[in-house]
Amino acid sequence: MSMDANEVRQAFVSFFEKRGHHHQASASLIPHDPTLLFTVAGMVPFKAYFTGEQIPPFNRAVSIQKCVRAGGKHNDLDEIGRTSRHFTFFEMMGNFSFGDYFKAEAITWAWEFVVDVLALDPERLWVTVHLSDDEAAEIWVNQVGVPPDRLQRLDEDNYWKMGSTGPCGPCSEIYWDKGPEFGAAGGPKYGDQDRYIEIWNLVFMQFEQQSDGTKSRLPKPSIDTGMGLERTVSVLQGVDSVWETNELRALLETAAGLTSVDLATASDEQKVSLRIVADHARSTSMLVSDGVFPSNEARGYVLRRILRRAVRHSYILGVDSTANAQSTVMGQMVDRVVEIMGPHYPDLVKNAAFIRDVIAREELRFRETLRTGQAILDNEMSKLLTDDSSATSQQLSGATAFLLHDTYGFPLELSEEITNEHGIKVDKDGFRLAMAEQQKRAKDARHEDSTTDSAPLVALLQNHGETHFTGREETESTAEIIYLDDKTVVLNRTPFYAEAGGQIGDTGSILTESAEITVADTRYGVPGLIVHQIGSVSGTPEVGQKVTATIDNQRRELIRRNHTATHLLHSALRTILGDHVKQQGSYVGPDRLRFDFSHYEALSAPQITEIEDYVNAQVLTNAHCNHFETTMEEAQRLGAIAFFGDKYGDVVRVLQAGPNSTELCGGTHVRA
Ligand code: ALA
Repeated sequence: MSMDANEVRQAFVSFFEKRGHHHQASASLIPHDPTLLFTVAGMVPFKAYFTGEQIPPFNRAVSIQKCVRAGGKHNDLDEIGRTSRHFTFFEMMGNFSFGDYFKAEAITWAWEFVVDVLALDPERLWVTVHLSDDEAAEIWVNQVGVPPDRLQRLDEDNYWKMGSTGPCGPCSEIYWDKGPEFGAAGGPKYGDQDRYIEIWNLVFMQFEQQSDGTKSRLPKPSIDTGMGLERTVSVLQGVDSVWETNELRALLETAAGLTSVDLATASDEQKVSLRIVADHARSTSMLVSDGVFPSNEARGYVLRRILRRAVRHSYILGVDSTANAQSTVMGQMVDRVVEIMGPHYPDLVKNAAFIRDVIAREELRFRETLRTGQAILDNEMSKLLTDDSSATSQQLSGATAFLLHDTYGFPLELSEEITNEHGIKVDKDGFRLAMAEQQKRAKDARHEDSTTDSAPLVALLQNHGETHFTGREETESTAEIIYLDDKTVVLNRTPFYAEAGGQIGDTGSILTESAEITVADTRYGVPGLIVHQIGSVSGTPEVGQKVTATIDNQRRELIRRNHTATHLLHSALRTILGDHVKQQGSYVGPDRLRFDFSHYEALSAPQITEIEDYVNAQVLTNAHCNHFETTMEEAQRLGAIAFFGDKYGDVVRVLQAGPNSTELCGGTHVRA
């Protein structure tokens, strides 16, 4: 009996736990990293450990990470259904070393797992290394015993990057030979891509790609590996493609049933459409579960695009797009996804009704969109087709394509697909221009962080450890200057709160025996290290001097009132709208607070009044606020809400703001 997905997951984790790895639960699909749209690999949640910006609490980890590759550098959207191995959503099993072991252990363990634990026939395994990597080649051949004729050297394909910036390095891959019936021989380098399937990538992380195109060395060589769960299961189950594993097969059957297509006799194009419906049902369910909502911006737009693409393929398969609201295709697909994946993803079960609701609503909205968009397109196309003068360059204008996208939620790709059927192109440059203009307007309205060189700060963190924050007990502290330049000053301990969790940084002053510094803002230079932004200096401060650091306490008092109020607002939203409400961000300043949250429709006036009344009633009750440190376990037991996607250490801080609000929070708060 071959292993199923769950057995493979368990075997992988236990193999690496036995080798000293900390098991880290999957992080959210929404990464913290602003350079990425989605979590695209197992290493994403660990990025700061590789770059040295954060000190890892363990130097070996194992995880099974949910991944979505549907936008940005890692984008497999267009491949879905056409290859035997790509998904928009998949699970990546990985082992990681943060400056601990390197190539020899990573390679020998990978082989041991594949050959001894999964019992794959070593005769059918191939490996590749980077052109330049003699060291890895030597380990494979001499230590592991892979025959030299089953080791090949690749260039770009054996160099892995997180994105246009971030950790990167040469890599080495393990491939499975599915056999001659799947195409030409010759190994991964010369043979058929469908025949040689990559199951595991071992990345030897050594560099960080910078935005200016240069590369810097990571503090220590590290290991990042990624083994595709579904691919591995397909190999173990001896099936032709990832679509034939028991889990995917079940989803395809449901899709076939809903669209009345017979899976056994379906044409190739119908199969592609069915796979798109099945794959997209998984990724969209997982994304909504993690708090992404269909919208016209960034990740919400990618979600919308995936979802609408799936719906359109169900219509291509014959589903009636005018059918009644009860029977959305994707709503029913969500039910099946939850049934199949729920046992491993409890959140999916918990959020099931809500996910279904969001996805079904989007399908219904899309039916409207299709009608309106199609009408606008028909009108534009008939103008173009009757206008002789432009017969040679018939193009739908970028402005129209953007209007369709922005106002009617009609994806560019859909406009293209439809106009192409009539021999008309879309002016994509014009579309991008219109899009860029809109994005610039949005960006101008946002506060842009100035990027500074983090190397001196990383060194400080390594030498002095994290800054001791005294500002929960004191408004004034004595301390010592450990770093100073024109713009910033760092102390060994400080009462200044650094901007985090939406709460803005403190202001105030730092006095030495020979100087006075005013502090205009306070931020984390790198995680754990509090950096004061200098407003003005009189005199000549120096590193090593003793100081008195004093915050503007009146301002802090205003800030903490607003911060506690944010928690009350959050609990009001969850009580009145439902537990699906998820915090997306916030601003807490002395003047006001703003709380961003996800909900599937605009609030009505009566709802807003009800929320205000709820918060005011809590304020007037004036209950005691309890802010304390505890373990993550205990916090969960208390039912504390965590800002999804956040990483927390083992010790966490919980705020109980009265009887109805319990949340993890490191901010500063009122006492009642
Ligand atoms: N980060 C590597 C990958 O995604 C392991 O392939």
